[in-house]
Amino acid sequence: MIRTALVLCLALVTPGQAQDLRSILHLPEAVALPRLQEENVPTAEKVALGRALFYDLRLSANGTQACASCHHQELAFTDGLARSTGSTGHMLLRNSQGLVNLGYLPNYTWASNALVSLEDQIHVPLRNERPVELGINDANAAEVLARFAEDPEYQAMFAAAYPDGQPSWNRIVGALASFLRTINSFDSRFDRYLAGQTSALTDQERRGLALFNSERLECFHCHSGPTMTTAYVDANDPPGKHPFVFFSNGLYNVGNAGTYPEEDRGLYDLTLKPRHMGLFRPPSLRNVALTAPYMHDGSLATLDQVITHYAQGGTVTTEGPKAGDGRLMPTRSSFVRGFALTPAEKADLIAFLDSLTDESLLTNPAYANPWPEGHPARGEAP
Ligand code: HEC
Ligand code: HEC
Repeated sequence: MIRTALVLCLALVTPGQAQDLRSILHLPEAVALPRLQEENVPTAEKVALGRALFYDLRLSANGTQACASCHHQELAFTDGLARSTGSTGHMLLRNSQGLVNLGYLPNYTWASNALVSLEDQIHVPLRNERPVELGINDANAAEVLARFAEDPEYQAMFAAAYPDGQPSWNRIVGALASFLRTINSFDSRFDRYLAGQTSALTDQERRGLALFNSERLECFHCHSGPTMTTAYVDANDPPGKHPFVFFSNGLYNVGNAGTYPEEDRGLYDLTLKPRHMGLFRPPSLRNVALTAPYMHDGSLATLDQVITHYAQGGTVTTEGPKAGDGRLMPTRSSFVRGFALTPAEKADLIAFLDSLTDESLLTNPAYANPWPEGHPARGEAP
C-alpha cells in the first residue's frame, strides 16, 4: 500500500511548479492548491493513465464494471441511484458520492476518520468484499494486473507515467488518485457571483443565499467554504491536520432509542463511541441539483424533501424497521433544530442550490471517457 504519511507542503513547491500543478489540476487562481501526497504528485501522464483506468471495465474482476459505472460525469460523478450495485450484483450500503474537489477533503467516504488519503480510499472499491464492488481479491489480483501489463496501449501509458514502465496495483491506485485530483469544480454561477459579478445570480437566488447563510437556517455552519462543506483542508494547512467534521442531522432515531439503522450507523461503526452514533461528513453541495437522491442512503428523493427535513429539525420515519423520531436523536447537531419557512422562501433556497451547478464540469472533455466505441475497455469483444 502507498505510504501516505508524507504530505506535500506548499513551502516545497516553487512558483513555477505551483503554476504547472494549477494547470494540471484545472484550478482557477482564486482557490488554494489542494493538499497533495509527496509520493504521488500528479503529472499529465499519470492523469492520462488514471483516466483510462477510471473508465475501463477490465478493472473489475468479471469485466462488467469500472469506476465510472457508479460515478457518471453528467451527474457530477454520482449515479442517480439511492444505493449503488456492485459488479457481482450486491447492493452497496451507501449512495454514490460526487467526485469533485476531492483534494480538499480531510478524509474520505460518507463517514470515516481513518481514510485520510485518496490513495487509501481507492483500495476500497477495488478490494471491498462485503459488499463486492470491483471484486479484486488475492486470488485474481495478478490476473487482473496482467490484463494491463500485457496490453500495448497500457504499456505505453505506464512507460510515459513511470520511468521503469512497470505496472503495479500501487501505480494503478496512484494514477486513479491523480486523475481524481484533476476533477475540480469551481465554475458555477455562484463562483462568478463571488468573484464580483453580481448579476450572475438572480434576485431569487440571492434571497436563497441569504437564507442559506442566516442564523435561522444555519446551513452555512456545515456546508460553506470553497467546496461547500466545512470538511476542508488545503496545502496551506499543516500536513497532519485532519479536522474532525462529522454530524448527525437527525435523519434517524430507530425506535426512539438513540440509534441509527443497524446496517449503517455512520462513524460509530468504525469507532464504537456512542457520541459518534449517526455521524456523517457534511457532503459538498456543489452540483447538488444533479446528485439526487440525497443523504448517505439516498433516502430523501428531492431537495424539497431535504429542506422539509431541516425545517422540521430531523426526519420522522413513521413505519417499518427504521421508524422513529429523528428530531429527538441525542447526537443530532444543535444547528439542526428546525425553522419556519414560507413556500416562497423554500423556492428561493432551492433556486440558490441550483445555482451551484457547474456546467463546464459536466461536459469537460478532460474528464470524459477516453475509450472509443467498440474498444475492449468498454466491454466490447476485441
Ligand atoms: C459499485 C459502485 C461503485 C464503484 C464501482 C466505485 N464506487 Fe466510488 N463510491 C461509491 C459509493 C457508494 C461511495 C460512498 C462509499 C462510502 O461512503 O462508504 C463511493 C465513494 C468514493 C470516493 C469517496 C469520495 C468522498 O467524497 O469521500 C471516491 C474517491 C471514490 N468513490 C472513487 C472511486 C474509484 C476511483 C473507483 C474505481 C476504482 C470507484 N469509486 C468505484 C460507489 C462506487
Ligand atoms: C450540523 C451540520 C449541518 C447543518 C447545519 C446542515 N447540514 Fe446538510 N448535511 C449535513 C450532514 C452530516 C449531511 C449528511 C447526513 C447523512 O447522510 O446522514 C447533510 C446532507 C445534506 C444534503 C444532502 C446532500 C447529498 O449529496 O446527499 C443537502 C442537500 C443538505 N445537507 C443541505 C442543507 C441545507 C439546505 C441546510 C440548511 C437548511 C443544511 N444542509 C444544514 C450536515 C449539516
